[in-house]
Order: sequence, then C-alpha cells, then structure tokens
Amino acid sequence: MIDQRADFSAVILISGDGSNLQALIDATETPALHLKIAAVISNKPDAGGLSRARQAGIDALTLRPVDYPDRQQFDAALSVMIDKYAPDIIVLAGFMRILTSSFVNRFAGRIINIHPSLLPKYPGLHTHQRALADGARQHGCSVHFVTEELDGGPCIVQGRVPVLEGDCAEHLAARVLKIEHKIYPHAVKLIASGRLEYRKGEIWLDGERLMEPLQI
Ligand code: GRF
Repeated sequence: MIDQRADFSAVILISGDGSNLQALIDATETPALHLKIAAVISNKPDAGGLSRARQAGIDALTLRPVDYPDRQQFDAALSVMIDKYAPDIIVLAGFMRILTSSFVNRFAGRIINIHPSLLPKYPGLHTHQRALADGARQHGCSVHFVTEELDGGPCIVQGRVPVLEGDCAEHLAARVLKIEHKIYPHAVKLIASGRLEYRKGEIWLDGERLMEPLQI
C-alpha cells in the first residue's frame, strides 16, 4: 500500500504542448490534489509544456534521443534523471516515445499514461481518425498503468464523448482533450491519496479489486 503522504511526488514526461501537464499543475493549486510535481522532462527541446513547467516554478529538463546511440541508453539516462527526484510516480502526459521493457519494469506499478481512446480500442496513433473511420458512436480517453504492452496496461479511469454527426478528427480530438483534463487529475488524486494502487497487474481501489475502469 502506498503511504498517504503530504509530499507524494511525480515526475511528468511530455513531448508537446503540455495541456494535460497544465491540468495537473492547476489541480495541485487546489486542495483537491496533494502532489508535488518534482520535475518535467521532455524528449523535445521545443515542447510547449516546458514553459508551462517553468512558469509554475517546476524544474523543466530536456533529454534528446539524438544524443544517445539507442533506445536502451536513452532510457537509462532518463532513469538516472528521474531517480534524482526520487518520485513516487511517473506520469506520461503526451510523451510520444515507446519506453523500453527495462525502463517499464524498473518502475512497474508506478508509471501511468493518458491515451486518447477508450482502451482497449485504438492503441497507438491516430485514434480519432480510426474511431471516425469505424463509425464509432462513442469515443474518449483512458488513464492506465504502463506495462510492456503498448497502451495495454490496466485502465484506471475513462471519460467518454459522443461522436457527433459530421465530426472531423480535429473537433473530436478537442472534445476528448477537455475530458482528458478532468480524468488525469482524478486518477492522480486517487493514487496520491493512497486509495488506488497497482498490485501484480491488478488495480485495487479502497481495498477492493477494480474490475472495470472508473467512468467520469
Ligand atoms: C493527448 O491527447 C494525450 O492523450 C496524448 O497526447 C496528447 C497530449 O496533449 N497521449 P498535451 O501535450 O497534454 O496537450
């Protein structure tokens, strides 16, 4: 069981605009979420989320894949950078890189990700286009624990939006993103408060096994 502590901390990994990061920063400024965001790390030097972090007084660092000969060595350097902050959890917020098994296993049960689809539907990229091409009536987003399987770890919470007549991928993505900003702080809050945890591939909430993702 993760201890309930006032200093529960996260390192957040990003690659882009960082709107989910911003939702988490905003939530930490309310009494609802007791979380210290210890650092934000990007694999892209020009990621907009880095300025959001700096503006909030959070250490903002970049690690460029081009400076490492392979994925293993990049992930090893990333681990060293993360370890300096000794975070309780690692939060992937639009981090557009596949992590190696050694990285994922090293932090097993302590890495979460947000994905723009109702997993297990549409793992990987272009989720909005794929939902539209399938004629899906509902779409949404999922927060899940990260395992070796891409977008395949157990789901904590999902948020849904209806697919509207004449929807395009851009409009659908924007509506899903709004819901992402609600479900990610909610999931982090459940973990930070000690109510929700990952045990050997299962999710436990308030002492009971969670059989289906929570819905918001
Ligand atoms: C989000 O849609 C997230 O689900 C996906 O990448 C996007 C990141 O957006 N993994 P942002 O950088 O948080 O604005």
